[in-house]
Amino acid sequence: MKGLVCAGGEATRLGELTRVTNKHLLPVGSWPMIYYPLQLLQLAGVREVLVVTGKGHAGQMIDLLGDGRLSARGSDEPLLELDLTYKVQTRPGGIAQVVGMARDFAGDEPLVVVLGDNIFEHAHADEIAAWGAAGAGARVFVKEVPDPENFGVVVYDERGRVVDLAEKAGVVDLRYEAPPTSDAVVGLYCYPPDVFDVIESLRPSSRGELEITDVNRHYAQAGALSVVQVRGWWEDAGKHWQHLAEIGRRIDETGVNKP
Ligand code: G1P
Repeated sequence: MKGLVCAGGEATRLGELTRVTNKHLLPVGSWPMIYYPLQLLQLAGVREVLVVTGKGHAGQMIDLLGDGRLSARGSDEPLLELDLTYKVQTRPGGIAQVVGMARDFAGDEPLVVVLGDNIFEHAHADEIAAWGAAGAGARVFVKEVPDPENFGVVVYDERGRVVDLAEKAGVVDLRYEAPPTSDAVVGLYCYPPDVFDVIESLRPSSRGELEITDVNRHYAQAGALSVVQVRGWWEDAGKHWQHLAEIGRRIDETGVNKP
């Protein structure tokens, strides 16, 4: 398995904090935000990871992460032992576009994708490994949320199978006036090598982006999407500056990226 961390974007929702830096470098608890998704991939047994970042802050990202082997400051204790590759996204075009940038990097290997601002109480290494061992289809993770209009959500049939997905229903996906369910698809996705052909067949959404939700719908309609419930808490840390400190406290209280 190879890994991808999506760490581009303007992050205007974080206001003054992202004027001169990338959102993924902001502090959450005692770490820069991006350490958490990188640690998740490492715990899942992924070693080679592509980091895609925006043009403005690629230098800072490389300054921080280097080749992917990092020790905790002032000690020899390894923090991350990854093999990192970088790519620069020059124009924002959606998460699916970023995944498409990993084509040559991933080759024939399955790809685990994490959004650089998504932080999990549990790393879900077993669920990722089980998907990798099965060697077919795609896997997404879902979590019930109070504000499903801000996310991609899954739609089930009477037998509980996922038959559709809707991205920010009523805003981006105009087939629905309101979110059909509250089960948000979180920013952790597992894709087989044919994901790049799926992405090539996509058209931009109403917001002009290639939607990862459209990729997931392709697998759902082919009966090739497995859906796993997130254990414990999950946070999209890119939503609001107030959130950064709250998530930091939560990490202190419960731990993060646990088994
Ligand atoms: C993105 C995806 C959405 C997903 C969310 C998870 O939204 O488009 O489907 O539910 O990440 O964090 P964004 O936060 O980029 O608007």
